[in-house]
Amino acid sequence: MFSLGILTISTSGHQGKREDTSGMAISRILAPPIFKEERYEMIADVQEVIEDRFRTWADDEGLDLIVSTGGTGLGRYDVTPEACLAVIDREVPGMAETMRAETLSKTPMAMLSRSVVGARGHTLIVTLPGSPKAVEECLEVILPVLPHALEILKDRAEGHPTGH
Ligand code: MTE
Repeated sequence: MFSLGILTISTSGHQGKREDTSGMAISRILAPPIFKEERYEMIADVQEVIEDRFRTWADDEGLDLIVSTGGTGLGRYDVTPEACLAVIDREVPGMAETMRAETLSKTPMAMLSRSVVGARGHTLIVTLPGSPKAVEECLEVILPVLPHALEILKDRAEGHPTGH
């Protein structure tokens, strides 16, 4: 079982002006027996606050996976990718690129998300776009590889699925 933190990044949601259907979608899809939700928070689009949650949840809480939703677009307050890039040790561009590429057939708007995926220590950080539809579409793309990626990060992969 992998420990999971869900971070919804929405200033209006943080102010209680909208229900967090995107966070709920993550919670529904990344569910037991594979994932155990240990942290959840809805915060405003403030880069230092986002960075702080990523760092605290990775370093102090030791979560295996942090999935955020929101703040990846081109709006003046969209700073989630910058926050993610500031805290990760290594980027995993293939996961972000494939989420965009695979979901382009569902909506051309997919190319407007600047989503970033990367590792901080043993923690994988995935930044998803803000709508529940985008969350569902993007998670469907990376779900098949997530357990293996997390196993490798935890230094306990027991051999490669292809045999090498
Ligand atoms: N990706 C997928 N798969 N499906 C979507 O509906 N919405 C897009 C895009 N990525 C979308 C998507 C839209 S409309 C925007 S503006 C950007 O993500 C950024 O969204 P965000 O600023 O809420 O993170």
